Amino acid sequence: MTQTETSTPFISVRDMHVTFGERRHRFEAVRGVSFDIMKGETFGLVGESGSGKTTIGRAIMRIYPLSGGEVYFDGQKISGKVSRALDKQITQRIQMIFQDPMASLNERAKVDYIVSEGLYNVAKGISEAERKQRVDQALREVGLLPEFASRFPHEFSGGQRQRIGIARALIMQPEFIIADEPISALDVSIRAQVLNLMAELQQNRGLTYLFISHDLSVMRFICDRIAVIHRGLLVELSDTEELFAHPLHPYTQALLSAIPQPSPDAAMRRSLITYDESVHHYKDDPPVWTELVPGHFVLGNQEEIAQYRKVYQNG
Ligand SMILES: Nc1ncnc2c1ncn2[C@@H]1O[C@H](COP(=O)(O)OP(=O)(O)OP(=O)(O)O)[C@@H](O)[C@H]1O
Ligand SMILES: [Mg+2]
Repeated sequence: MTQTETSTPFISVRDMHVTFGERRHRFEAVRGVSFDIMKGETFGLVGESGSGKTTIGRAIMRIYPLSGGEVYFDGQKISGKVSRALDKQITQRIQMIFQDPMASLNERAKVDYIVSEGLYNVAKGISEAERKQRVDQALREVGLLPEFASRFPHEFSGGQRQRIGIARALIMQPEFIIADEPISALDVSIRAQVLNLMAELQQNRGLTYLFISHDLSVMRFICDRIAVIHRGLLVELSDTEELFAHPLHPYTQALLSAIPQPSPDAAMRRSLITYDESVHHYKDDPPVWTELVPGHFVLGNQEEIAQYRKVYQNG
């Protein structure tokens, strides 16, 4: 997808910490994560189940409070206390799309209500005709018929329900969308359609995406850059093609080795690299977030970084 030339980040996550539980049961799900997303970019966040992807998305959305760090959106700090005016602004400009279209849609409400629910908060004064017209337009934009507005979610297929979820975000006219595993619950046959729809909407509206997934093969197709998260820490970040060409961190390699190969031959040859954090001895030589080549960051101690540099020396 398109990447813009500007160097001011649209979203900036700075040393984010998110903690759950209290006292002895405190658990730090996000342990100091920093990344920037540029306007118009699709930024991927990949990692296994429980690594903290959804937590980061929800913390940006301000559903979870930060226990440390900050989040900036279009130059304004949006974490912590914000003014009422800014709150309203963010509620409109940042939207989220969820994994499970069935669970995230109110089953008892008609599509008409579901799609326009967000407007009740940010566009209180709009007329009924205007509201209906916006629902109409949002449905068309995601490839659904306006007539569907009077139906209930259970009358739709999984792919259609995800389109409803996207319409619900679009109606707010957002600029930044956090898509948390938006196609993981869908049949393989319709995943590409939903991804293509997202790509098309991005082009038409200049949207910026944070795309959360555990599936690197999907991300290769849609993301400009990818950050790899492992147990609440970023371990690697780079342009998508660079990441696939030079995966440096053993955890990134483990994720890549788990991608199913299209040819049976390749599947036979591939070995599953597993990543074991416990073999690392970091006491005297702690890992540091290091930019090895422009734009390609990796977490490693001095010894590891020296190893990673060799990858480039050998071509
Ligand atoms: N509301 C919560 N209360 C307590 N712990 C939580 C909460 N939400 C998440 N966690 C814990 O934080 C960690 C990160 O969870 P998170 O849902 O962010 O992972 P994820 O990377 O999105 O995983 P998945 O791929 O399964 O969606 C997990 O150990 C999880 O159990
Ligand atoms: Mg999740």
